[in-house]
Amino acid sequence: MCDSRLSHCGFEFILSHEKVTKLCDNGVIMALLPYPLAREILFEMDAERAHDLAMNLLARLQNTPMQCLWSTPRVDDPVRVAGVQFPNRLGLAAGLDKNGRCIDGLGAMGFGFIEVGTVTPKAQPGNPKPRIFRLPAKRALINRLGFNNEGLEAFLNHVKRAHSFRASGGVVGLNIGKNAATPIERATDDYLAGLDAVYPHADYVTVNISSPNTQNLRTLQSDAALDGLLSALHERHLSLQAAHDRQVPLFLKIAPDLNEAQIDMIAKALLRHGMSGVIASNTTVSREAVQGLPHADEAGGLSGWPVFEKSNDVIRSLRSTLGPNFPIIGVGGVLSAQDAVEKIRCGADLVQIYTGLIYRGPRLISEAAQALAQDRSASQRP
Ligand SMILES: Cc1cc2nc3c(=O)[nH]c(=O)nc-3n(C[C@H](O)[C@H](O)[C@H](O)COP(=O)(O)O)c2cc1C
Repeated sequence: MCDSRLSHCGFEFILSHEKVTKLCDNGVIMALLPYPLAREILFEMDAERAHDLAMNLLARLQNTPMQCLWSTPRVDDPVRVAGVQFPNRLGLAAGLDKNGRCIDGLGAMGFGFIEVGTVTPKAQPGNPKPRIFRLPAKRALINRLGFNNEGLEAFLNHVKRAHSFRASGGVVGLNIGKNAATPIERATDDYLAGLDAVYPHADYVTVNISSPNTQNLRTLQSDAALDGLLSALHERHLSLQAAHDRQVPLFLKIAPDLNEAQIDMIAKALLRHGMSGVIASNTTVSREAVQGLPHADEAGGLSGWPVFEKSNDVIRSLRSTLGPNFPIIGVGGVLSAQDAVEKIRCGADLVQIYTGLIYRGPRLISEAAQALAQDRSASQRP
């Protein structure tokens, strides 16, 4: 691997691969670096290794005095959506913290809400590595992780241990999926097991049927399959509400690769089965926007800039079918504060980010949350 040229405060450093690796192994040094510099080092590594290093660091340093290295005051822009009070409208999308290990550390970056998972009933390793690829020319990622996670029991132990984010009013969403080994005809069993287990610990629950990396999962978005799944979930949702004497909203997360008729069918099913809200969208299987780029032909879901307009189209269609009051979380390709505002303009009530955080760093969180707050106060002015 070639040397890394890093510019910082007007000085230029040339670091050998060996030095880069040493710097990275000392996680605390990484936490001290400004994000553009840390990113250059992280981008020298395999994407999943960089992810694991950052998450291990957060898990180790969260809720210690070291957390001040990345803590940022949260933008105060409270909003009530699906009966839940959110401190602001900017959240972390599912998949970055699959096991719910870093809720407090991530929450300290200024998010109003953090969604963790996708968790499956049993632990599973996911697909063979490498399985995350960067496409920096389009500020995009392709991943085919395949719901690698430690399973429900470990997940809930982590979630229960998180305390500081929630104590400060932060909202935690728990995202559930199905095991790869469970036949698609039995998918409902996995979702019901997930819902039963996470319900008492969630501020909201997301039912993820839109990952392209679990065989046939997206077929659950089609008419009869969706009807069966949502009616079973609705029934269980009602009994859980009664049993726990607590109303936890249930969101459905959908793909961006849907035509108008499919979106219309899903919207009607959401209303018919009393779902609380919808998250649009997951990653895309389209490669139109990245053709010819290195890694463009890797299998998996594409996220970041190329999914921005696609997910906006889905949000607009959902809003027009669902009416003004049905809760929508907009996600996909938010890389700037203006992109976050655009999601709201398309009809979203709340906004999530994932790939933008990788390319722009934690600064995007407060910038976007601030822009959303300003946009709201501007639109409320007479
Ligand atoms: C590496 C990676 C892993 C992901 N894992 C999950 C997941 O486990 N569950 C889920 O619902 N979405 C998952 N997503 C999708 C994101 O939550 C988000 O919907 C999508 O990436 C679009 O947003 P973005 O362009 O801001 O990344 C993942 C995305 C990436 C990039």
